[in-house]
Amino acid sequence: MRNKLKAISLFLVAVLFVGVLAACNSSSTGGGSKEVSVGIVLPTKDEPRWVQDEQRFKDALKDSKYTTEILFSQGSSAKEKENVETLLNKGIDVLIISPHDGEAAGAAVEAAKKDGVTVIAYDRLITNTDAVDYYVTFDSLAVGAAQAQYLVDNAKGTGIPLYLYAGAASDNNAFLFFEGAWSVLQPKIADGTFKIANSSEAITLKDKAELSRDEMSKILGQVTTNWEPNEAINKAQTHLTAAAADMKGDVAILAPNDGTARSIADTFAADSAITSYVITGQDAEKASIQYIIDGKQSMTVFKDVRTLVKDAMGMAVDILDGKTPETTGTYDNGEVEVKAKQTDVIVVNQENVKKELIDSGYYEASEFTGL
Ligand code: BGC
Repeated sequence: MRNKLKAISLFLVAVLFVGVLAACNSSSTGGGSKEVSVGIVLPTKDEPRWVQDEQRFKDALKDSKYTTEILFSQGSSAKEKENVETLLNKGIDVLIISPHDGEAAGAAVEAAKKDGVTVIAYDRLITNTDAVDYYVTFDSLAVGAAQAQYLVDNAKGTGIPLYLYAGAASDNNAFLFFEGAWSVLQPKIADGTFKIANSSEAITLKDKAELSRDEMSKILGQVTTNWEPNEAINKAQTHLTAAAADMKGDVAILAPNDGTARSIADTFAADSAITSYVITGQDAEKASIQYIIDGKQSMTVFKDVRTLVKDAMGMAVDILDGKTPETTGTYDNGEVEVKAKQTDVIVVNQENVKKELIDSGYYEASEFTGL
């Protein structure tokens, strides 16, 4: 009996020791505590946008007294759930999460809520669950509206072929961007400035100023890039192959973000029947800033990730300190009104690229050529 007890206590000591070692090995940043206070989950490392966010989080957290850990879900909801569970096991009190798929992420955040964790949706809303406490975001309707306004402002004449592209339907933002864009484009389609080149569903709906989510889904079904540059190339090639001669020449292209804009721009540039194109983007990715300087992409919507990170971490710290975070409005996620803090966006083209992105200290001039 005594031997058995001794064996058990030795075993417990060993377990404790391994536990302490594991805690010391964690790749967290910030203060010296063994536990992680804030867990951050981002959708993928494969898009520069989210690597930007990771870097800005790291910059902002350098002097934080709280411990944080950033994990990437690599475009998989299963991996995302696993990431959340890993962070819950490390004792997080706040979860900042940008979901791969806004609906599928419900299960992950419900697990977090059950654990007493406060959930902050970051940039992308998590839909149809009551397990989201806060939402920190850019004004995504304004992003789409700014893209569309750029096309309108640069439209010369009438009957300009308009190619529409959108983000992934699993991302609530794709709908917000498209809704914002449609609100500006639709009157200009109705008055004949633009003619839709690549979506029969959008043509059917062209006289409707406001589209329901189902109606937008139908259009997205035809013109989604799924946020994948390669899918964007395939779609653009298919559309150009199918387009009649009067849908070529000088064209306008609504591209939802920089990654897809560069692929679509290259595809259009390679078609000898396209004489010129105006194309939108978003994120101010370095590669797209170079494209703008070189005249290969017309604009981008600059979303200053430093502000989003500051807001998200500010909220997390308020929560950890037992304070109620400040919010500026709410977003309906299909189940609840989520309290939100929203940030404005800036339109960038060749004229103001230096002022907004270099002089503001966001990027270094040496990262570009021909500025
Ligand atoms: C983000 C964009 C990003 C896109 C693809 C959206 O939810 O708001 O900034 O380009 O996802 O990752």
